[in-house]
Amino acid sequence: MSYPYQIKSLEEYQSAYKQSVEDPEGFWAGVADHFTWHRKWDKVLDWNFTGPEVKWFSGAQLNITENCLDRHLAERGDQPAIIWESNDPEEDHRVLSYKELHFKVCQFANVLKNNGIKKGDRICIYMPMVPELAIAVLACARIGAIHSVVFGGFSAQSIADRIQDAQASLVITSDGAYRGNKDIPLKSVIDDALVQCPSIKKVIVLTRTRVPVSMIKGRDTWWEDEIKKVETQGNPACPAVTMDAEDMLFILYTSGSTGKPKGVVHTCAGYMVYTNYSFVNVFQYQPGDVYFCTADIGWITGHSYIVYGPLSAGATTLLFEGIPTWPDAGRMWDVVDKFKVNILYTAPTAIRSLMGFGLDYVKNKDLSSLRVLGTVGEPINEEAWNWYNENIGKGRCPIVDTWWQTETGGILISNLAAVTPQKRSHATLPLPGVQPLLVDEKGEPIPGSDAAIDGPYHAKGDGTAGSGNLCIKFPWPSIIRTTYGDHDRCRQTYFATYPSLYFTGDGALRDEEGNYRITGRVDDVLNVSGHRIGTAEVENAINMHTGVVESAVVGYPHDIKGQGIYAFVIFNGNKTDEILISKDIVQTVARIIGPIAKPDKIQLVSGLPKTRSGKIMRRILRKIAEGELNNLGDTSTLLDPAVVEEIKNNRL
Ligand code: WTA
Repeated sequence: MSYPYQIKSLEEYQSAYKQSVEDPEGFWAGVADHFTWHRKWDKVLDWNFTGPEVKWFSGAQLNITENCLDRHLAERGDQPAIIWESNDPEEDHRVLSYKELHFKVCQFANVLKNNGIKKGDRICIYMPMVPELAIAVLACARIGAIHSVVFGGFSAQSIADRIQDAQASLVITSDGAYRGNKDIPLKSVIDDALVQCPSIKKVIVLTRTRVPVSMIKGRDTWWEDEIKKVETQGNPACPAVTMDAEDMLFILYTSGSTGKPKGVVHTCAGYMVYTNYSFVNVFQYQPGDVYFCTADIGWITGHSYIVYGPLSAGATTLLFEGIPTWPDAGRMWDVVDKFKVNILYTAPTAIRSLMGFGLDYVKNKDLSSLRVLGTVGEPINEEAWNWYNENIGKGRCPIVDTWWQTETGGILISNLAAVTPQKRSHATLPLPGVQPLLVDEKGEPIPGSDAAIDGPYHAKGDGTAGSGNLCIKFPWPSIIRTTYGDHDRCRQTYFATYPSLYFTGDGALRDEEGNYRITGRVDDVLNVSGHRIGTAEVENAINMHTGVVESAVVGYPHDIKGQGIYAFVIFNGNKTDEILISKDIVQTVARIIGPIAKPDKIQLVSGLPKTRSGKIMRRILRKIAEGELNNLGDTSTLLDPAVVEEIKNNRL
């Protein structure tokens, strides 16, 4: 497979960017021409950001799995599509060629059909990182069912919320999951969730850990038995259902600054074109490369850059079930060495954690196959960047610092490996088709910050530097279409803060060359180990604990996680054992949201700093959590200034 739209030089980048701004429809039609369609589009783009309403490739028909599977069969049917490495280094790895993956996806799509699933039905997937997870995702797409993958670290309550919101009718799970030295009982978590989910009619359970599970008659069925049924039916084929360009492909829930997580909706054609385009260009994938993304398929990174982007490009994508630190901190480098990985895409939090274990775990590992390194999920600090560059890339691998979001579907700002300049700790330049700009609090553009007007790149550094809130002013093909079941929430959250702009929720700087540096969230969303967690969500969970009157949650700098969670809690129950109370609260949060949202610090307080109108002054709490005790700003407008002194004195 060749990629005629792969950018090869800085000059080509400049001209692609220019064309994408001057003639976006022509530009994207040129890329989209290289995919398999049942019917081509009538119109490339229809849009407004007030609705918002964005339609890419209207009138076109396709199935994304034909682009990820069928179209590769003739030329590279025997090439590995997925290489799977188990959690357990002793267990044999598995390789699925494109032919085998195609066969298994069709087979499981027939299982879904046997269970009554039709186009448009919602399917909840809660599985470990095994090939069957990718197979389940693609099987849904094959028949037009909408998948909603829930990360294995979420609790029963979180799963129930997501199932109810999407009104899903079927769950795909496994008996259990291995993660490092832990066995996680996924099916029993699902059983707890389903007590609240009458919409679920069927549960398909893959065998993985052989932990005992309860199987409810009429509802629960084993994956393996379902496959046998399909085998006895004879015909292994499963024609791909024809989808309209703007039919929903999947829902993925993500946290915001208010309320419960919302279901971000992506649709078929635009998402396919953009994830492929960005994959091929950012990582500069070459046919035959082994590409390893360490994310979980439960997050957007796994959707776009383990499954859809790489497979639509005919790439070999490595799926790793385990964690970087088990059996020891050399595990990731062993995987790179074992499979001669060429492109490695991981998160700053993983780098910082491995850095802490020292160089002994990197020594004696052959990392010479690596050509490109990538990071995603949070700003990468200079120390981690240097360590990654020197000890993993040995100073010869470009590092792509990729900025994007669940809502953007694909990478929007990043250098292109060894093609556009990299700058340590900077996401750098927008991809062609992406028009970022920075605005101040009032929505006024920061001079010189608009890539489409001011030019994306100034080699001589003669652009104007500035900082502000990061917005995008023109749609790209994989932009969020709606939040499931509540379109107005989508408008309010992303398109209402600044009229006719998509607001990212991130702050950024732009230097004189045009490089963007993302500085982090400017709203009440935390980024803990690269996972998005809403402060309001954590507060709601804490407030469920008996004895808790009120709470306020803020982030603070954490050496490994990037941000840690600091909770200030007013507790009215029996306070004899504060340590036990804190542990109980942590347990409550793990129950309500999942272990990823556990607070790192819980401080019991007698009051919270509030304005006279009753609003919690988070700014002050954030400063206290960060340890900036002498720089709290004006506290005179507080209802009860004394409470600040108490909180300061008892800071953890
Ligand atoms: C942050 C993950 C700095 C940012 C793909 C964004 C980053 C949020 C970077 C989205 C980066 C992601 N540099 N910050 N390279 N990449 N972020 O939805 O705050 O899980 O808004 O998507 O992660 O997180 P999400």
